[in-house]
Amino acid sequence: MSVPRRGASPLLAVRDLEVRFGPTKLPIRAVDRVSFDVMPGETLGLVGESGCGKSTTARAIVGLAEIHAGSVAYEGRSIGSATERRREELPRKVQMVFQDPYASLDPRMTAFDLVTEPLRIFGGYSKHERRLEATRLMLTVGLDPRFLNRYPHEFSGGQRQRLGIARALALEPSLILLDEPVSALDVSIQAQVLNLLAELRGERGLAYLFIAHDLAVVRHLCTRVAVMYLGRIVEIGTKRAIFESARHPYTRALLSAVPIPDPKLARTQDRTLLRGDPPSPDRERVGCAFASRCAFVQERCKHEEPQLEGEEHGVACFFPC
Ligand SMILES: Nc1ncnc2c1ncn2[C@@H]1O[C@H](COP(=O)(O)OP(=O)(O)O)[C@@H](O)[C@H]1O
Ligand code: SF4
Ligand SMILES: [Mg+2]
Repeated sequence: MSVPRRGASPLLAVRDLEVRFGPTKLPIRAVDRVSFDVMPGETLGLVGESGCGKSTTARAIVGLAEIHAGSVAYEGRSIGSATERRREELPRKVQMVFQDPYASLDPRMTAFDLVTEPLRIFGGYSKHERRLEATRLMLTVGLDPRFLNRYPHEFSGGQRQRLGIARALALEPSLILLDEPVSALDVSIQAQVLNLLAELRGERGLAYLFIAHDLAVVRHLCTRVAVMYLGRIVEIGTKRAIFESARHPYTRALLSAVPIPDPKLARTQDRTLLRGDPPSPDRERVGCAFASRCAFVQERCKHEEPQLEGEEHGVACFFPC
């Protein structure tokens, strides 16, 4: 089951989301019955190996991938489901930053065009207002407004990702989906961009869905973490629950790859290495999707599929650690 939390109402509620690709007879189940909430101001990390369905989840939320089943609601209002697609109602409040700032920014558009395009599409802004906004947005992300007439190739990778962030901020969203926003950047630049994201969150009370393929990157920014494997969420919980008392064997395996700075703690680190590749996502599913790589696999795992259980800390495993 999903992990709804008592009290506050979620900004974003994703329920039993399914996205499929390929032939209907043997589809790739890129996203398979995924449910989670993002609360106002929180940062939910979405983590898992390449190909597990993280980008497709984000793309389905903003309408870039077709939803096969399930629903997505923003502030309680449906913004997409299998039966109704009302893209025009997608609130300007949900924006996305893409992994590759080279591929996601049109090379023929100037920084001014790129940063103000959302304002132009949304409408109601004069050219003069867009100029003012563009200057403000550049300053917000730490770029010199004198560069507004430059093209993407005239910026460095880090600066380009700042442009992507400025563009996402243009309509003053309350939720930004960050799809591996620093994975394509040099390690030396990654921290700067992560710091910028943390600052913006503090200043604007932004909520993030922060996608990453390893746990190390989400450690600083996230308040909760969801771990995906082969299209499904296998564990979800607070940052503390995931980093200090992970229960799913897959999460444990991912954690064993995270460098621990304290050598004393590092010695206690569980070195269950993740062997092999995940099975193909177009295979018929029987049992636990992780069974082929799990060090704790038992007979039951091969026939029955474990469901996500637990409210604050959800785990999909018959024999959690
Ligand atoms: N447009 C597409 N057409 C066909 N298959 C796709 C498409 N996009 C993604 N997939 C497949 O869906 C699965 C999930 O991909 P993706 O969401 O990109 O994973 P991640 O972002 O976690 O690396 C993969 O098996 C991928 O090959
Ligand atoms: S259900 Fe079984 S195979 Fe799946 S993760 Fe748990 S112990 Fe491993
Ligand atoms: Mg991806």
